[in-house]
Amino acid sequence: MTDPVTIDDFEDAARARLSKMAYDYYRSGSDEEHTLRRNRDAWTDFELWYRALVDVSAPRLATTVLGTAVSSPILIAPTAYHTLADEGGERATARAAAASGSLYVASTLATTTLEDVAAAAPGAPRWFQLYVHKDRAFTARLVARAKAAGYGAIVVTCDTPVLGRRCADVRNGFSLPAGMVMANLVEILPPDLHDGAGSELARFVASRHDASVSWKDLAALAEDCAPLPLVVKGLVRGDDALAALDHGARAIWVSNHGGRQLDLAPSTADGLVEIVAAVDGRAEIYVDGGIRSGTHALVALGLGARAVFVGRPVLWGLGAAGEAGVVRVLALLNEELTRAMQLAGCADATGIARDLVRRTRLFPR
Ligand code: FNR
Ligand code: LAC
Repeated sequence: MTDPVTIDDFEDAARARLSKMAYDYYRSGSDEEHTLRRNRDAWTDFELWYRALVDVSAPRLATTVLGTAVSSPILIAPTAYHTLADEGGERATARAAAASGSLYVASTLATTTLEDVAAAAPGAPRWFQLYVHKDRAFTARLVARAKAAGYGAIVVTCDTPVLGRRCADVRNGFSLPAGMVMANLVEILPPDLHDGAGSELARFVASRHDASVSWKDLAALAEDCAPLPLVVKGLVRGDDALAALDHGARAIWVSNHGGRQLDLAPSTADGLVEIVAAVDGRAEIYVDGGIRSGTHALVALGLGARAVFVGRPVLWGLGAAGEAGVVRVLALLNEELTRAMQLAGCADATGIARDLVRRTRLFPR
């Protein structure tokens, strides 16, 4: 295959190397996958009303998130089971993030312990993504481990009280291959985890995740995470974003889990518009979902996101070519963002003017 030119080329290359079960797991959205499609399509509901005759000879992408310096506003979202994509697993992703000056958010459901992820790239910034378990003492132990391992923030995912239904996983009877485990959770893995029909992950989430979590719990979690900042991931509503800030969140991460949770949830682009208006500059706002090019990222920045996170593109890079593939995916997205900024008359990724972006006048798709 010729060198991948787009993120979709990386997906094709990864698909050729991955097992069907692994590819289906990574690709899937929930149920009829309306939100999966909406996430990507929604970035094309906007137009970039570019400015001409701006000096864009030295475009700058570097920015900060919660005070942490990163080389660009395109960062790595937490995704589970990297060893399914490449034997280097989360270590490879962490090294690629470090080599790219990016920020890696390690998943609770990694196939590498959070300590080993930290050791793979000790000098690089990293955040830890947390699921709240029914066993709150175990949850607190995960937070303590992340603090001890030098993670810079805790990202609590709040859109997964139960797991969305991914039909391919049900049909495939999704489970991790022998020898591969959710490495952070070995002390609590049920002995019968692999027994049963359908998705092993859905069974695990149903047995372990606390569906009773509410705002009062968030305030307690924010205190427990201190001095690490708490980022709340998985919101689409403005009122929820304000509630999160009122209960201790330091930043808001607009997400619908890549269309893998509630189908017919709004696109994250639409959630971003609502949350930016509601938050009104009180806190940093991040977004993920369907971002497959630097141009999509520019729209998100113009709508008010401080940074964007990508999930599947990183998995495609990892699946296509391991650590080097992730480096190339991030480089490609940053090349695309740089070009889009220059063509739009934007010299600095941190100061994208809001009037660059307008909803298209065309009838929505
Ligand atoms: C995810 N996502 C996710 N989120 C999270 O908070 N913890 C997790 O363990 C995972 N795991 C996971 C696995 C896979 C295979 C995917 C595709 C996604 C959601 C992820 O962080 C992010 O919200 C979406 O992936 C963003 O959408 P895109 O970039 O994949 O379109
Ligand atoms: C998923 C879980 C791991 O989306 O977050 O597969």
